[in-house]
Amino acid sequence: MMRSTPFMETDMRHISILAALLIAAGGAHAESPRDFLTRFEKEAGAAASPERGARFFTTKQSGEWSCASCHTDKPTQVGRHAKTDKAITALAPVANAERFTDAAKVDKWFRRNCNDTLSRLCTAQEKADVMGWLLSLK
Ligand code: HEC
Repeated sequence: MMRSTPFMETDMRHISILAALLIAAGGAHAESPRDFLTRFEKEAGAAASPERGARFFTTKQSGEWSCASCHTDKPTQVGRHAKTDKAITALAPVANAERFTDAAKVDKWFRRNCNDTLSRLCTAQEKADVMGWLLSLK
């Protein structure tokens, strides 16, 4: 039977520490707004249309809100929550460097806000269109 030497044990420990570090680094990898545009276009299998994104964002669909109800129809500006009246920092990346840098946050809020606004999830195409429009704002 083979017995592991103390050397081997240290070695294995180093390897698992290294693996854990790599996983942590991967999870914390900061993304850019362009990465999300690329991801949603790939998921949709089609290019984004910023015009369609603008219409989608500013038009009420089925419920009482549009995206603009909280984020305004000029998302370079500070928004205001339609229900709680709390200020919402600007959504457009050009006006707010923190936007679209964290996949967990982006996915969470797309899910929640699409459900609140449309009573369904947004499609990849709708997300691509919105991203394309937000990125076109100056
Ligand atoms: C009822 C108010 C409300 C509506 C309507 C709304 N949002 Fe939001 N949205 C918020 C709040 C609150 C946050 C989280 C706080 C923050 O990030 O400032 C947020 C955050 C986001 C984020 C996170 C972006 C990031 O990286 O920080 C995205 C994306 C987003 N909203 C997209 C949308 C889209 C698309 C719609 C329309 C389908 C929409 N929102 C409608 C209130 C709203």
